[in-house]
Amino acid sequence: MSVKPSVGAEDVVKVEFDNGVAWVTLNRPDKRNCMNPTLNARMFGVLDDLEADDRCQVMVLTGAGTSFSAGMDLKEYFRETEEKGINAVRQAQRDAYGWWRRLRWFEKPTIAMVNGWCFGGAFAPLFACDLAICADEAQFGLSEINWGILPGGGATKVVEQLMSQRQAMYYILTGEMLDGKKAAELGLVNESVPLADLKTRVRKLCDTLLEKNPIMLKAAKDSFKRVINMTYDEAEAYLVVRQESANFLDKTQGRKEGIRQFIDEKSYKPGLASYKK
Ligand code: COA
Repeated sequence: MSVKPSVGAEDVVKVEFDNGVAWVTLNRPDKRNCMNPTLNARMFGVLDDLEADDRCQVMVLTGAGTSFSAGMDLKEYFRETEEKGINAVRQAQRDAYGWWRRLRWFEKPTIAMVNGWCFGGAFAPLFACDLAICADEAQFGLSEINWGILPGGGATKVVEQLMSQRQAMYYILTGEMLDGKKAAELGLVNESVPLADLKTRVRKLCDTLLEKNPIMLKAAKDSFKRVINMTYDEAEAYLVVRQESANFLDKTQGRKEGIRQFIDEKSYKPGLASYKK
């Protein structure tokens, strides 16, 4: 089923629901799904809608056609916005950075399904997703240096976080592309599979996530992202508090149930599978 999200007039983002998964497709294939101000504003609305929609338990972000996203729209996001002056530039930045930040802290697990080209600004939503699976055929690149700028909009920070310093600097300075397998090897994505198998692999990953306790998925992903910049002692203390607040929010008492099914019922082994929700 396909629904129209509440924000925006054009269908530059497509949303489809399928058994607990919301497939969100950047939908400007003729422009290789580059991100213009319309798409950026629209993604805010889509994320708002999906956070409140029970049909979405896991969100997958992908692109229509041959591209995941060719980064920022050089004509509409850069040139035309700059012609309108600094206030328009700042507004465009707020919208783009805003939906990426929103995606980083999305209430439900998110997966980037990188089906093709992924350039420059597209590294930001790629990074914002909790997990990323790409096609071997996908091509990634920090192309900014090729057209005379530095990788902004978070792209430099993305490779600083995910790659070694030598690798990150190499791709920042050369603008060379890397394919899906190399992206997996360097840690830009979790895994690379042939394009023909991409959707099946991502669906399987979604099904694994759908078995888990949703309150704990949100607590676990946020905790990981929060502890990155903490000391060990701060992280220890934060994780205690975060676990206790998640227990409080979890009306299903999943933690007790998980222990009960293992210790009393002996119906599963936590080392091998999930308890039954
Ligand atoms: N901004 C604006 N327009 C873009 C775009 C971008 N980032 N990426 C693609 N397009 C447009 C092209 O201008 C072209 O428009 P037209 O049909 O009106 O001429 C259309 O999308 C198709 O692009 P084309 O280059 O013909 O497709 P391709 O499949 O041969 O090549 C790419 C695909 C992604 C390699 C190539 O489009 C490209 O290099 N894009 C820019 C990537 C980039 O540097 N992004 C970083 C921005 S921060």
